[in-house]
Amino acid sequence: MLTRMLPIDAHSPDDEALHTAADVLQKGGLVAFPTETVYGLGADALDEAAVERIFVAKGRPADNPLIVHVASIADVDELASLNDGMRRRFEKLAQRYWPGPLTIIVPKSAHVPDIVTAGLPSVAVRMPDHPVALGLIRAAGRPVAAPSANRSGRPSPTDASHVWHDLAGRIDLVLDGGSANIGVESTVLDLSVEPPIVHRPGAVTVDELASTLQVPVYGGGVSEPDAGGQDAGAQRANDAPRSPGVKYEHYAPVTPCVLVEGKAERIEEALLEAISEAKAAGERIAVLSTEETAHAYRRAADVVCVAGSRNDHRTIAYNVYRCLRQLDQCEADIIFIEGIAPEGLGEAIMNRLRRAAGYRIMHAH
Ligand code: TXA
Ligand code: MG
Repeated sequence: MLTRMLPIDAHSPDDEALHTAADVLQKGGLVAFPTETVYGLGADALDEAAVERIFVAKGRPADNPLIVHVASIADVDELASLNDGMRRRFEKLAQRYWPGPLTIIVPKSAHVPDIVTAGLPSVAVRMPDHPVALGLIRAAGRPVAAPSANRSGRPSPTDASHVWHDLAGRIDLVLDGGSANIGVESTVLDLSVEPPIVHRPGAVTVDELASTLQVPVYGGGVSEPDAGGQDAGAQRANDAPRSPGVKYEHYAPVTPCVLVEGKAERIEEALLEAISEAKAAGERIAVLSTEETAHAYRRAADVVCVAGSRNDHRTIAYNVYRCLRQLDQCEADIIFIEGIAPEGLGEAIMNRLRRAAGYRIMHAH
């Protein structure tokens, strides 16, 4: 398949480009587009055959459901089947956080094809905070099913060039609207269960959600290592429901990664020791580092990529996937990743880094 790349202004996208892309969606094709979190790979959410193409293009397991993107709160009416209590909660959240990096899972209506939700009775909905994404959904005149626009298992794309690297030849069109602002995927909140549960942490935190809803919100999906890797049957002790996506390898470079967690000073020491051992064994070493410690690693390792200051989680979120992709291109035998404090947006970043490392974690005490 011939893939086209179309530049588009992120702030005021021109109608012609949007209509070209909308036309591809209306004909059952696939369009990658920027959102404020990461790039998405979109198809008409109500067209089964189009949605099927998303799974094929990404190599995505069929039991991992997709997020349906909308351009207004009212667009959710035809997709969801809400009782009064759930509607109140949904509206509170949507009014507070939409458009924005919050995905809300609600019981689905008969309108949504089973392939979108992987057969689940619930559907994930999100209104992205990006003029290109919103313009595309409006121009297409239908909801857009879109996972992150990466090959399944790999780091999410935060730039059109990442999408091109992963999916050129497999999709119809990439709208190049520059870098995604936030850099990590949306928070996924399941409202279809009691208490509501966050399956995936993101820029909207569990505490913020609990305070908006005025009810406890379970952060159960947060940072939980998956017992068996690909083991679909693994159950957590407390039996909280999980999102299907959490059981798969995710966000991972091809090069093996090791995450080092602990106090900042201890991380540097432990990491330098690990690097010198690996060097002694003849290995080529890459490091994903914070600004504060980069100078020390530059002397010891072969390649260092700096994601940002350890106290500036916004900048780290913005850079983290780009750094992982960059380090994956430099033929290292191993990528060491410096951990940060898992608080606020740091929780979302560490969740991705733990999974990028396949839970190979060194604890620096
Ligand atoms: O920021 C984002 O959310 C980006 C942009 C493109 O919007 N999208 C994204 O999609 O990250 P994806 O497919 O990579 O991740 C969606 C996650 C998966 O872990 C999936 O299992 C979960 O949401 N999910 C979707 N529908 C679900 C449902 N009905 N029940 C439980 N989990 C669901
Ligand atoms: Mg994804």
